[in-house]
Amino acid sequence: MLVAPSLLSADFSRLGEEVAALEQAGADWVHFDVMDGHFVPPITIGPRAVEHCRRYAKLPFDVHLMIEKPERTIEAFRDAGTTTLSVHVEATRHIHRVLESIRKAGLRPGVCLNPGSPLALVEPVLRNADLLVMMCVNPGWGGQKFIDGSLERIKAARALRDRLNLNLDIEVDGGVTAETGRQCAQNGATVLVAGSFVFGHPQGRKAAIDQLR
Ligand code: DX5
Ligand code: ZN
Repeated sequence: MLVAPSLLSADFSRLGEEVAALEQAGADWVHFDVMDGHFVPPITIGPRAVEHCRRYAKLPFDVHLMIEKPERTIEAFRDAGTTTLSVHVEATRHIHRVLESIRKAGLRPGVCLNPGSPLALVEPVLRNADLLVMMCVNPGWGGQKFIDGSLERIKAARALRDRLNLNLDIEVDGGVTAETGRQCAQNGATVLVAGSFVFGHPQGRKAAIDQLR
């Protein structure tokens, strides 16, 4: 199981140090939540913050775009040192083209699915992605409750991936705790994103990451 702590719950005045601390604590990837105030109401960070954080750690940067017109920012995130760039199927009419552009830019493409969207929406493009991000909360905020029915969706996504024989990571994002994380693993998830669980853990980040793994 790969563990990708989300910086959304970090101290935004010291993102670089937070990234370095996560690497020290054994994180596999660091998850960046990029929000534009349109696709979701909050506004967070952009490529410049990613670029500055890149100096603090070597681990892969997993960037989750919750923005409209994601195709306009691919090169900027590539130049900033992004590893995986994930876009919401709900944020563009041209998901196939966007995933191809991300691949062409030299990044690993990911496609994200909101809790209210059917799995069938991403099925035609799973071959074009390295990562399927299954949202288990509505995007925009950390610390929300894992939505009922998400486990069935993860199980269906894993079955689809196996049936199509794809080399695809299934990343679960939102409401992940030791308990829901274990259930996600049992249902076929390969990557766990966790924000509030990692940053709010009473024994610290390393204990939280170890527990998820
Ligand atoms: C929600 C973000 C998540 C979020 C997860 O829009 O995509 O990555 O930070 O936070 P927790 O783990 O607290 O649900
Ligand atoms: Zn996220």
